Amino acid sequence: MSPFGGAGGLGAVPAGQSAVPCFRAEDFHLFCTAGELLRGVDLVVPGGRITALIGPSGAGKSMLLRSLNRMHDRVAGLRVTGGLWFREQEIYAPDLDPVCLRRRVGMVFRQPVVFPASIFDNVAYGPRVHRLELGPAGLATRVERCLRAAGLWDEVRDVLRQPAGRLTGGQRQRLAIARALAVDPEVLLLDEPTATVDPVATARIEDALLRLRGALTVVVVTHNLAQAARISQQTVFMLEGRVVESGPTEVVFHQPRDTRTEDYLTGRFG
Ligand SMILES: Nc1ncnc2c1ncn2[C@@H]1O[C@H](COP(=O)(O)OP(=O)(O)OP(=O)(O)O)[C@@H](O)[C@H]1O
Ligand SMILES: [Mg+2]
Repeated sequence: MSPFGGAGGLGAVPAGQSAVPCFRAEDFHLFCTAGELLRGVDLVVPGGRITALIGPSGAGKSMLLRSLNRMHDRVAGLRVTGGLWFREQEIYAPDLDPVCLRRRVGMVFRQPVVFPASIFDNVAYGPRVHRLELGPAGLATRVERCLRAAGLWDEVRDVLRQPAGRLTGGQRQRLAIARALAVDPEVLLLDEPTATVDPVATARIEDALLRLRGALTVVVVTHNLAQAARISQQTVFMLEGRVVESGPTEVVFHQPRDTRTEDYLTGRFG
């Protein structure tokens, strides 16, 4: 399914949701040479929704997010135990091709990554690398659809062949989102995507994520609690390498089960 279809309203069962969760973790641990970074994570991430990953600095949010598409494979000295699944596929199974996984599970970082190339070529990068058979017209259509989905098309439609380096920070982050969408992923992982951009760009990025919700599963790490409340349907609170609490955003924010969640949400720490 394309991630460009409309999103269901809040509370509606989105098209991308199925009985099998998008991600599932059971007693998942991540170790580095200096010790344990994730200490037995249990988690269910439903498909077709926006899940916010919140918690203080050092809680393990980025580590968990990166585990979901095996970004750690490139980091020496990291080792995992326990279960972590994407749909029915075990993410750390030795026979799983991480390149295929990362095509289905895209990632956007805190600092916008822009290649030294034109705006068009930045978005066309993934389809070209993965040799998607789109043809020149199909590729142009794909680039336009992704720029529209990321809420950037109207600002760049006349300058597609200009260097992407000329874009502002907020535009670069939306370009990074468009580039991630260009290989038609099922999931978008975002690590503090609005931390380095202004409030106007933040609103555009949030709008884009809300439009994508439904056909696409979104997992977003954020320190901005108002943002988590605005855009997510599911919230996961992490502390010291563990998931303390997760559930519907309204419940986690207004009726948290754990006092540590309440303390964090009311600003007592973090
Ligand atoms: N490559 C690494 N090797 C070893 N330890 C690391 C590595 N990267 C991060 N850590 C440690 O892992 C722990 C969890 O880090 P992580 O980056 O997941 O936290 P976080 O919740 O994303 O924090 P922040 O909100 O500051 O980004 C921290 O104690 C951090 O110092
Ligand atoms: Mg982080």
